[in-house]
Amino acid sequence: MATVKFKETSPYVKPKPAPPEDDYLYKKYLEHLTLKTEKEPIVKVALFGVGHAGTIHLETMISSRRVQILYIIDDVKSKWQSIRKYWHLDNVTFLSSKQCDKVFKDSNVDAVFVATPTITHKDIVIKALEAKKAVFCEKPIAEDRPSTVKCYEMAKKVGKPLFTAFNRRFDPSYWNLKQRVHKGEVGHVHMIKRVAHDSPLLSLEYLKVSGGIFHDCLVHDIDLIVWVLGEYPDKVSVLAHANIPEIKAIGDFDTVAVNFHFPSGTLGMIDLSRNSPYGYDQRLEVFGPKGMLQADNRQLNSVHLYNELQGIITAPIWYSWPSRFMNGYKREFEHFLDVVHDKTESEVKSKDILAVSKIATACEESARMGKVVELIWTKDELPDNL
Ligand SMILES: NC(=O)c1ccc[n+]([C@@H]2O[C@H](COP(=O)([O-])OP(=O)(O)OC[C@H]3O[C@@H](n4cnc5c(N)ncnc54)[C@H](O)[C@@H]3O)[C@@H](O)[C@H]2O)c1
Repeated sequence: MATVKFKETSPYVKPKPAPPEDDYLYKKYLEHLTLKTEKEPIVKVALFGVGHAGTIHLETMISSRRVQILYIIDDVKSKWQSIRKYWHLDNVTFLSSKQCDKVFKDSNVDAVFVATPTITHKDIVIKALEAKKAVFCEKPIAEDRPSTVKCYEMAKKVGKPLFTAFNRRFDPSYWNLKQRVHKGEVGHVHMIKRVAHDSPLLSLEYLKVSGGIFHDCLVHDIDLIVWVLGEYPDKVSVLAHANIPEIKAIGDFDTVAVNFHFPSGTLGMIDLSRNSPYGYDQRLEVFGPKGMLQADNRQLNSVHLYNELQGIITAPIWYSWPSRFMNGYKREFEHFLDVVHDKTESEVKSKDILAVSKIATACEESARMGKVVELIWTKDELPDNL
């Protein structure tokens, strides 16, 4: 009877609590359930590249009522028919890269998605912008800084969005963590720590043309750290090693330990590996004088087994990025469409992209030369919120 005094009135006679703002999946469900329509034109798109990344974007496009796919451009003609059949793309035109001018000349195309190998990005991005299309480009925009600058200058000149797909930012946990760091929940950040252990091990064919672990992989983690902090490092010190002989043979590394120093006194660390045998291990932790925020791994399900004296057995963590970051990809896609419709500013700005690339270059220099590398930033390079 100790709690009888807390008995309350029926929930039916009280106002119904609203779903939390952050439950974007439920919000989307309600939109579909109530057939909520907005007066916005459908964005007509062309997708370049249907490989590992392109397949994710294709699936998102097909499930979105905000876009219509007009063209798919991929050089492997043998898979066109299978893609058309699998996804029921009867009204989509398939082209090879040699025929892609058709896309740029078609005034019906509003936006171009680029998910081809990095070496091809610059050419497609520039042509698409020249043709006044909005561009969503897989990271990195280009192979080097001058080409990246050129792409952003073109975007500015033609007044069209050029969005780089740093999708980790759109992961609900990292998004929430960043908002809370900016609200001061841990105070001035003393330490930010990132663990990024990739799974599965990528093919050597991919790694050979990837641009190396610093620009292909570490950029995501650098971006996450500087985005959360709103600050760029002034010193980096990096150790790297290739434990896998085939990776050593191509002059790359599979394991990297990064230390950052930031002008405000914050320290940062990244523990990066190309090969995690137990799943896609992605953690982020921020520590300050008022507390600690932690974004932990996500598991396949929430079932726990208590078995004899074995401890608690739980499900594995997600196997790889297409599953772990699926919600991030979807939210990133919705964000890009909002940018195309001028409903919001792009969350990923040209300054961020150029800064991350500069930091990745400094990390590689530190690892290869075995020294601390200092980073000097001009006022123009610094984030706008500083
Ligand atoms: N944001 C992320 O999490 C993420 C994850 C994976 C890959 N990526 C990026 O996505 C890009 C593609 O990587 P991937 O792993 O999907 O590669 P992939 O090799 O699996 O796929 C590339 C596709 O592009 C096609 N292609 C090649 N040249 C083309 C051209 N000129 N025009 C049209 N199609 C062409 C290929 O036939 C292939 O189907 C890379 O820049 C990579 O860095 C990003």
